[in-house]
Amino acid sequence: MEKMPFQPELNRTTTMVNATATQTTVTTSDWKAGLPVLTGAGFTLRELRLDDAASLLAMLTTEEVSRFISPPPTTVEGFERFIAWTQRERQAGNYACFAVVPTGMSVAVGIFQVRSLEPGFGTAEWGFALGSQFWGTGVFIEGARLVLDFAFDTIGARRLEARAAVANGRGNGALRKVGAVQEGVLRRSFLRNGQYHDQVLWGILAEDWRMQRQSLQFAAVVH
Ligand SMILES: CC(C)(COP(=O)(O)OP(=O)(O)OC[C@H]1O[C@@H](n2cnc3c(N)ncnc32)[C@H](O)[C@@H]1OP(=O)(O)O)[C@@H](O)C(=O)NCCC(=O)NCCS
Repeated sequence: MEKMPFQPELNRTTTMVNATATQTTVTTSDWKAGLPVLTGAGFTLRELRLDDAASLLAMLTTEEVSRFISPPPTTVEGFERFIAWTQRERQAGNYACFAVVPTGMSVAVGIFQVRSLEPGFGTAEWGFALGSQFWGTGVFIEGARLVLDFAFDTIGARRLEARAAVANGRGNGALRKVGAVQEGVLRRSFLRNGQYHDQVLWGILAEDWRMQRQSLQFAAVVH
């Protein structure tokens, strides 16, 4: 997620999305018309809404969350522009961004995003960030599995890449845990606060994910 694709300075127009839209379940074939609601234990993943902006500002702009990702917006209005941008990019079929909403809350405490790196979404990049009070709770791993299913089965991606600064222990630990393979190191590829960082390039192929999913399902049946 080092490269959060949204660049506030490039997106000054805001297409308002319905801040109070109710969650609707969308069939898997029409994700460009609206993201499905994906259900985990204790949380849901759904489309971002404008009323997530204040919560995302509080959750994702702390030093511990943001120090290894590209700078998030710094105002509620900036997050509203980001959210409107995610809707336009989803409609264009380039990008999907899920809000992480814990059960009992109505607004997002984090995001999972997937963006196409080539026409047709064959190779895509994914990234994620959660408010730090939700770290180590199991939301990441289950949310990641739902998003991997979505990326490979619904969007039809063949390969998902992620980049994590070498110094980002949690980010790299999270990617390793979900079964991503370390493919290389991109030297001095990420500029943050005036300092260049090396990044680990992590990859997951659709066939790897399906094999891993089968063994997870088998293990669940055996236990
Ligand atoms: C990345 C993120 C979403 C992961 O969520 P999380 O709840 O922290 O992830 P988890 O706790 O489930 O998994 C992280 C793993 O890394 C391990 N880890 C933590 N610090 C580590 C370190 N310094 N070195 C190696 N592994 C480390 C944890 O032990 C854990 O593995 P375990 O569950 O087997 O013990 C969250 O940490 C976050 O939002 N970070 C800030 C934004 C960010 O860096 N995004 C990722 C960019 S690639």
